[in-house]
Amino acid sequence: MYNYRVGIIGATGMVGQRFITLLAEHPWFHISALAASSRSAGKTYEEAVGPRWAMTEPMPELVKQMVVIDAADIAAMKEKVDFVFCAVNMSVEETKALEEAYAKAEIPVISNNKANRHEPDVPMIVPEINADHADVIPTQRKRLGTKRGFIAVKSNCSLQSYVPPLTPLKDKYGLKAVLACTYQAISGAGKTFETMPEIVDNVIPYIGGEEEKSEVEPLKLWGHVENGLIVDADGPSITTQCLRVPVSDGHMAAVFATFERKPEIEDIKKIWKEFRGQAQELDLPSAPKQFLNYFEEQNRPQPKLDRNLEHGMAVSIGRLRPDKQYDIKFVCLSHNTLLGAAGGGVLTAELLAVKGYLD
Ligand SMILES: NC(=O)c1ccc[n+]([C@@H]2O[C@H](COP(=O)([O-])OP(=O)(O)OC[C@H]3O[C@@H](n4cnc5c(N)ncnc54)[C@H](OP(=O)(O)O)[C@@H]3O)[C@@H](O)[C@H]2O)c1
Repeated sequence: MYNYRVGIIGATGMVGQRFITLLAEHPWFHISALAASSRSAGKTYEEAVGPRWAMTEPMPELVKQMVVIDAADIAAMKEKVDFVFCAVNMSVEETKALEEAYAKAEIPVISNNKANRHEPDVPMIVPEINADHADVIPTQRKRLGTKRGFIAVKSNCSLQSYVPPLTPLKDKYGLKAVLACTYQAISGAGKTFETMPEIVDNVIPYIGGEEEKSEVEPLKLWGHVENGLIVDADGPSITTQCLRVPVSDGHMAAVFATFERKPEIEDIKKIWKEFRGQAQELDLPSAPKQFLNYFEEQNRPQPKLDRNLEHGMAVSIGRLRPDKQYDIKFVCLSHNTLLGAAGGGVLTAELLAVKGYLD
């Protein structure tokens, strides 16, 4: 039905590798170019990645012999792609310049990087939550002077577990205050146990910049479009602490929340069960059938058991109960490189394809 040639910038990295496994057999998107830094450029993908391949699945045959392009060579990329996914570990200034250069070359960019997340005309889309934020793309195209090119971004992976379950509760009960402590996997830092040995038998209570993102970005996701720009929500008040834990994949959060009208526990479970967003309504290829999944077992969800639910595109929730200081508390989990990064990027691209923004 749709047929696009797709490039991956940062293809050799942790998120880039995820994009490759997700796109190798995608019905609409076909990998046609792989880009990374000048260190990898000119090598075959297999050579460039070498022992860094961190996926449990084997490297797809179709990418092994592809020659990696220098991401700075936009002319070479433009010949090969209709749009790109971008996940690079460059400075904010360098990333912003790179993404804007691609957009200005009329190549739409679906980005996992933080550099453009705060622009009010750059949609930060979770298709189940704020698909309508794509409406700001014409404003952005005007700013960039493009006809086709634009940038759309993914939110930070830390909040992908707790923002979805809070979303329908916020709409129904008015969300006043949230406290979230996250327990984040090492793949979120682009690492494995081999490349991050200091995490074995350990917890590191600091992830640079993560708490700020976890507190601010939900307000953009919950914002609304006004005069072609996203206006951030003015609440709830959110406070977080983000810890790195010895888990390969899957970010968890322990969440406390207070509402204007206190919800009943059983009503919340029903709301989660019935929750559907545009991703489900449009039946997008990467959409989970059931986005919010509640476990009655006391000891669930667990990263090892539940991160791959619905191909890693679902949110798992458990231990919902009343709290003495807040109204409720619960625990939740999402796969950080699938729903939280590459999978969420692919789902966003599917939404934008259906809405006609990639034509
Ligand atoms: N890991 C996660 O769970 C996660 C989740 C959400 C968002 N993100 C975000 O996604 C981005 C990538 O994260 P990651 O974990 O995949 O990082 P990573 O494993 O360190 O990979 C970084 C990638 O960036 C490329 N790169 C570095 N410098 C470059 C340059 N000057 N020009 C072009 N490419 C360059 C690297 O290419 P070489 O191999 O050639 O050096 C590599 O492909 C970051 O912005 C991160 O915050 C990550």
